[in-house]
Formats: sequence, C-alpha cells, structure tokens
Amino acid sequence: MSETRTLESIRVDYPAPAHVPKDRLVDLGWAMGQLPNDLVDPYLPCDWLTDPKLPRLLFNAAKPGSPGGIFGGGRGSWVAHRYEDIERVYSDNEHFSNKGTAEFQAMIGETFKSIPLAIDPPDHSKYRLFLMPHFSPSRVAKMDAQIRSVAVEMIESFAKKGEVDVAWDFGRVYPVRIFMGLMGFPPPMFEQFLDWEWNILHSYDTAKTMAALRGVLDFLRGFIAEKQADPDDHLVSKIVHGTIEGRHLTEDEKIGIVWFLWLGGLDTVAATISQMFRRMALQPEIQTQLRGHPELTNSAVEEFLRTQPILSSARTAKFDFEWHGMQIKEGDSFSCLNPAGNFDPDQFDNPRVFDPARKANRHFTFVGGVHLCLGASLARRELRILLDEWFARIPTFRVKPGADTTVFPGLMSIRNLPLVWDVAS
Ligand code: HEM
Repeated sequence: MSETRTLESIRVDYPAPAHVPKDRLVDLGWAMGQLPNDLVDPYLPCDWLTDPKLPRLLFNAAKPGSPGGIFGGGRGSWVAHRYEDIERVYSDNEHFSNKGTAEFQAMIGETFKSIPLAIDPPDHSKYRLFLMPHFSPSRVAKMDAQIRSVAVEMIESFAKKGEVDVAWDFGRVYPVRIFMGLMGFPPPMFEQFLDWEWNILHSYDTAKTMAALRGVLDFLRGFIAEKQADPDDHLVSKIVHGTIEGRHLTEDEKIGIVWFLWLGGLDTVAATISQMFRRMALQPEIQTQLRGHPELTNSAVEEFLRTQPILSSARTAKFDFEWHGMQIKEGDSFSCLNPAGNFDPDQFDNPRVFDPARKANRHFTFVGGVHLCLGASLARRELRILLDEWFARIPTFRVKPGADTTVFPGLMSIRNLPLVWDVAS
C-alpha cells in the first residue's frame, strides 16, 4: 500500500480554508488510525510520511462527513509529520493552544472545560499541581502491590487453560479495574462505562455519541454529589473536597476534571495492551528476547509505546503567523502525526526495528510539553507488571489458528485477539 502512495495520489479537492494552497490539500485519514490493516507493524503505511522530500506542512482536508472530516471541527487541519515540527507544536504554547481539545461535551451544549487537557498555560499548571500528587511516580509506586495482585489474579485465572482472548477478556478489563479502584467508581458500572466510551470515541454516530455523553455526565455529576455528602479515600472524593490556591473547586472544575480523567483513563492502556500482545504473537522473537532478559522490561515497554502511538493530538493556532512558508491563520487546527514522528529516521536509529533495549527513547505516544500524559507513570507500571507476571506464567504464546488479526492502528485497535499456548500436563 505505502509503496504506491504518492503526494499526487492523496491530493483531494475537498473544501478547505482559502489561505491553504491547493497543492497541500490531502486526505490523511489512513494515517490517523481509521483504516484497519493486517501488517505485523500496523503503522508501516505512515513510513511514507517520513520521506524528507515531502512538504513540511500538509493539510488534511478529508471528505466532509467522513470520520477524517472531524479533524479541525470539519474545516480540516494542518498536519505536522516530522519529529521536530511535532515537538514544536506540543511545546510552543505561545503559538499553539489546547482550547477545545477533546471537548466532546460541547456537542450536547455543555460549556465546562476538559481539565487539564483543554487548559493552556499559565492556568494549566495549577490543575497539574493539584492532580500530580495522585499520579506521580512515587504515588504510583505505592500502587505496585495492588496492580500486581490484579494482574496475577487475572493471568492465573486462564494460564492453565492454554487460551484467552487477550484483548476482550484481559486487556479491556485489567487497566479499567485499576482505574476504577483509584477513582472509587462502583465496579458494577464497568460494562456501562465501556459502552459509553465506545459510543463517544468510536461510534461516529451523532445520536449514539450524544446519548452516551448525556448518560456519563449525568452519572458523574450524581457521583460527585454523592462524594460531596459522603467522602471516602478515593480520588473523586479527594477532587471534590480538594482546594486549588486556597479555594474549593467550582462545580465546572469538578466535572471537568472527573470527566477528563474518565475519558483519558479507560481505554488507552487497553488499546496498548492488545497491540502489544498482537505484535509479540506475530513476531515471536520479541517473546524470546523478553523471556530471557527480564532486565529489558522497562525499555521494552517504552519501545512498545514508541511503536504503537495510539493517538495523534491536535492543537489550534492562537494567531496569524507564517511557518514553513505557509500562512497560518488564527483558529487553524494542527494534527500532529505521532505515527510518523515516532519513526523519524533523524531521531531514531533503524526506526522500524523493534529494539527492546533502545536507549533515549523520546517518543510522542504520551505527547510532549506541558500536557504530557498525566497517567504515564501509571500506564508504564501497569504494562511493566503485566509483562513480568505474564512471562512468569505463560512463557510462549501464539495467535489462535484462524483468528482475525486485523487492527486499527489507533485508539480502538483490536477488539478480539484469541491467543493459545501449550500447558504442561
Ligand atoms: C498507554 C496509555 C495512555 C496513553 C497512550 C495516553 C496518551 C495520552 C496523550 C497522547 C495525551 C495528550 C493529549 C493531548 O495533548 O492532546 C494524554 C493526556 C492525558 N492523559 Fe493519558 N494516556 C494513557 C493513559 C492514561 C491514564 C491511565 C490516565 C489516567 C488514569 C491518563 C490521563 C491523562 C490526562 C489527565 C491527560 C491530560 C494531561 C494534561 O493536559 O496535562 N492517561 N494521554
């Protein structure tokens, strides 16, 4: 697929703002995780974007009404695909804003902000400082035993059976059990949460998205009120009763924080896990490397993260300026193609090789700059514990013969991935 792709072949004539030159208008929906494929390295099609001859800024003007058309609120978006350009967009808070990012709630008329993601500096730092103690590496280290016991209990429930659907029965459940415990959400809400989240992020169906938004926000507001009246030791209660700069949070701040944690914490680790196991099952030498070298677990997790960038983030231009010869106008949207930046040959040696010992692995899977994923330490620890405890019980595994290994190289990734292994009698 990628060999036949040329700039000419992806040019489109869809509507776009007048200041965007026609020769920059392209459809990059295929590079944003919306097109499934069955490659061992599902991000390989994006390799095409690392060609140094490509213009530094393209403009994704996907077909109106198509999933790609949602970028830039239907107006399309500039696309940064080189490592150094992506790094600039993430870290240059003077030119680029997060306002409106991931604010699905606006679809149903809600006006509160997604906190901290949609807040720019300097206000952003007060929310980060408020939340950081609950997600810092030292705080997450204290959760080690609890995370490990969930991982061990779950792996042991199927290790002797010689088979599991690692995406549906494990990856989907393990991080969400930990997240719900951290927040204090009632365990029976598990399936309902995943159903709402699926409809919001992946259904591309306005009616379903709006109904799910209404459902989850009603639930979260009710839950906040419950914790207001009856505090406990979990995070939602601490947020509700916490203070920022000496004052209690407003109702909009409470729902903005709890809502965004809910959105960010549910299926990101799940998508990472299912792709990680798919890659190991299709490339068994990775299993051999990890089994024989547990000291590689930390760097291997970083390499899985680099080679599986499930999200490409967006920013908005704060004012008119010029960049790479293009006129950028206030309000223009920018998409940063992490699946290209994470494989930029100027930044990574042999970028398409999965190297579990790779050093100085500065990828964008958790973005960069002030909005660096708040849950990164938690996600890393969940993934490291998982690899350790899995290989201690299931040393080798493979895809169940006949199983479909098609993957969306994005957040929704792969719903089912049956694995099998030999069980000692
Ligand atoms: C492998 C798993 C994860 C991945 C790949 C991931 C990815 C990301 C990305 C790309 C962003 C930045 C988005 C942007 O700037 O546009 C982000 C931000 C964020 N993530 Fe994660 N995330 C993961 C796990 C988690 C978890 C488990 C939580 C919470 C429990 C979480 C909470 C957050 C929060 C609160 C932010 C906003 C940070 C800020 O704006 O300062 N994430 N994440």
